[in-house]
Amino acid sequence: MNIGIDKIGCYTPHLFVDMKQLAVARDVDPGKFITGIGQEKMALAPITQDTVTLAANAALEILDEDDKEKIDLVIVGTESGIDQSKSAATYVHRLIGLKPQARTFEIKQACYGATAGIQMAKGHVALHPDRKALVIGSDIARYGLNTSGEVTQGAGAVAMLISQNPRLLAFEEHNAYATDDIMDFWRPTYSENAFVDGKFSNEQYISFFNKVWEQYKEKTQLGLADYEAICFHMPYTKMGLKALRTILDEGAEADRERLLANYEISKTYNKNIGNIYTASLYLSLLSLLENKTDLQAGARIGMYSYGSGAIGEFFSCVLQPNYRNYLYQAHHAEMFAARKEVSVTKYEEIFQEKLPTDGAAVSLNIDEDPAAIVVAGIKDHKRQYVNKT
Ligand code: CAA
Repeated sequence: MNIGIDKIGCYTPHLFVDMKQLAVARDVDPGKFITGIGQEKMALAPITQDTVTLAANAALEILDEDDKEKIDLVIVGTESGIDQSKSAATYVHRLIGLKPQARTFEIKQACYGATAGIQMAKGHVALHPDRKALVIGSDIARYGLNTSGEVTQGAGAVAMLISQNPRLLAFEEHNAYATDDIMDFWRPTYSENAFVDGKFSNEQYISFFNKVWEQYKEKTQLGLADYEAICFHMPYTKMGLKALRTILDEGAEADRERLLANYEISKTYNKNIGNIYTASLYLSLLSLLENKTDLQAGARIGMYSYGSGAIGEFFSCVLQPNYRNYLYQAHHAEMFAARKEVSVTKYEEIFQEKLPTDGAAVSLNIDEDPAAIVVAGIKDHKRQYVNKT
């Protein structure tokens, strides 16, 4: 049975910071942020967006009534969740109008959460072929103002419908994965911002990639020539390139050229949004599918997922006939075109805005946020969500 991604949608807030402006404000050569790190714009979440609303907004655009009837599993992968106990998935389930007969939960393993969700969904659909699963990666990446990680922040979500006979991509049989208990990036429960050992995290990302790439080759006998493209988790767009370069000498010149050219296309949305942790790999996949217009059915795409702490996983999927008919490219183009730039000073203000943590009631101005689903305030320690549609 073919199981895979039937639909894929994304959402990013309507505000962004230009990386040249941030570089100037931080007294850094803009070349470092644009070329050295590979980021051009950074999405900024207003106080009316959180990981629940980002996730719900990403899912809203892709589901029709038949999907809603068949979805009985909703998984949200996130590492910037809003509650230590209740899952983002239960809120999302209500906000997008799914039926009650569903399992809903949240998965945490740094940026790996959505991949864990997808693998679980694959097993679920294998057991229940008439059912569908909704898997969402949703995150707001925060390192703090004036930190070296600041340029690698971002906000957004990617939602995927997993089903049998998928219209976009079918998962292949094998997976390769590896775990090691390391401290390269983490966020203790008392901190709003992530802690990171930047250089070590880069090394580990590449080291895990090399491990799972070798393991996958052994399991499948596939080599560089067999891949049309390889998509990477993208904490910043230079990171995946560094990993890709470590294996390029395993192929012929034509393989190197193809994989490098497709890597460029696969970073289109990521360089304009920034890191969205759990969703970054899938945003890169979406960039490739929507911006490379001549991909052929049957083409194989490699997928490298990395979650600090750490786990790495490699798997692959195969493009399905007429996949382009089932993308939401025009909608995403509109979303990007409608975004508004904010100055660095305004970004710093918005970054520091917080909902009260003492249960005090607050009502937010939701008129300035064009998103369909927003946080309207807080009351008795409960976030008040509104679906404006
Ligand atoms: N023009 C062009 N390039 C320039 C430049 C200029 N004027 N000045 C510097 N550069 C280049 C540097 O040569 C370097 O390139 P290479 O990496 O190819 O050598 C690049 O810009 C970055 O420079 P630095 O290494 O000096 O940058 P930094 O010390 O400020 O930190 C960072 C970079 C470690 C990525 C930091 O932003 C960080 O800690 N980010 C968060 C952690 C992270 O994203 N880790 C990734 C792996 S972990 C993971 O994947 C999970 C996750 O999502 C967090």
